[in-house]
Amino acid sequence: MQLTATDDVFVLTGAGISAESGIATFRDANGLWENHKVEDVASPEGFARDPATVWRFYAQRRAQALTVAPNPAHRALAALEARLGDRFLLCTQNVDGLHEAAGSTRLVHIHGELMKTRCSDPGCERPPFVDTRHDFAELPRCACGALQRPHIVWFGEVPFEMHAIKRRVQRATVFVCVGSSGVVYPAAGLVAEMTYRKSMGERVRSIYVGLERPANAREFDEVVLGKAGLVLPALVG
Ligand code: APR
Repeated sequence: MQLTATDDVFVLTGAGISAESGIATFRDANGLWENHKVEDVASPEGFARDPATVWRFYAQRRAQALTVAPNPAHRALAALEARLGDRFLLCTQNVDGLHEAAGSTRLVHIHGELMKTRCSDPGCERPPFVDTRHDFAELPRCACGALQRPHIVWFGEVPFEMHAIKRRVQRATVFVCVGSSGVVYPAAGLVAEMTYRKSMGERVRSIYVGLERPANAREFDEVVLGKAGLVLPALVG
C-alpha cells in the first residue's frame, strides 16, 4: 500500500485479526457458545434473564484473553501508527486488548473492552473500571446495589463513540478493514462513506484484508485474501 506524506489512515479491525493469536471468531463457532446462541449471552435481554450465564461466558473469555499475545498483524498496525502519528486511527470491534498489547495507542474500542466492568444501572456514577476477575464466587455487585456487567456493547446496544468515528472516516484518505465479516452494523457501514466520497470526486481509497470476501466486499476498491498476520505486515511495512 503506497502512502503519501498527507494520507490519513483509518483502520477498522474485526475478530479475524485476533484469530492467529488463538481467539476463535464468533462466527467460527456458528455463533454458539455451550449451545447458547451468542446473542443470548451478549444482549441486555440475556443479562436480564440469566446474568450468571452471561458472566460465565465473559469470565471464560477473560481467562482466555489473559493467555494470548498479539500477532504480526497487531504489531504491523502499531508500527504504522508510529510512522503516521495523528494521521492514523485504529477502530476495533474486538474486545480482547491485543492492539494495546502490541503498542497501539490511537485506538477506539467501539464494542467495549473485555477487561473492563461497569455498573448495570445507567444512572450510577461509578465509571467503568479495569477488571480482570474471571473466577466469581457470586455475581459482582456495585456499591449502589445493582449488578455489575461487562463493559461490552451487546447486540441491540449503541456502539461507543460513533460520532467521533464517523468524523474521522470523513477525513480519512485511506480506509483499511481487517478480518471482519461485514455483517454487524453500524461498523460494517463505515466503508460506505468512502464509496460516497469517491462518487463525489474525492481521491480516497479502501482496502479489505481477510480470509474471505466480506458481506460488504463491493464497497472496497481492493480485497486482499489471506491471513492478516501474513498480508498486513507486507502491505503496510
Ligand atoms: N486473517 C484475516 N481474516 C480472518 C482470519 C485471519 N487469520 N481468520 C478469520 N478471518 C476472517 C473471517 O473469514 C471472517 O470474515 O475474519 C472475519 C471474522 O468475522 P466475524 O467472526 O463475523 O467477526 P467480526 O466481523 O469482527 O464481528 C463483528 O459481531 O459478534 C459480534 O460484537 C461482535 O465485534 C463482533 C462483531
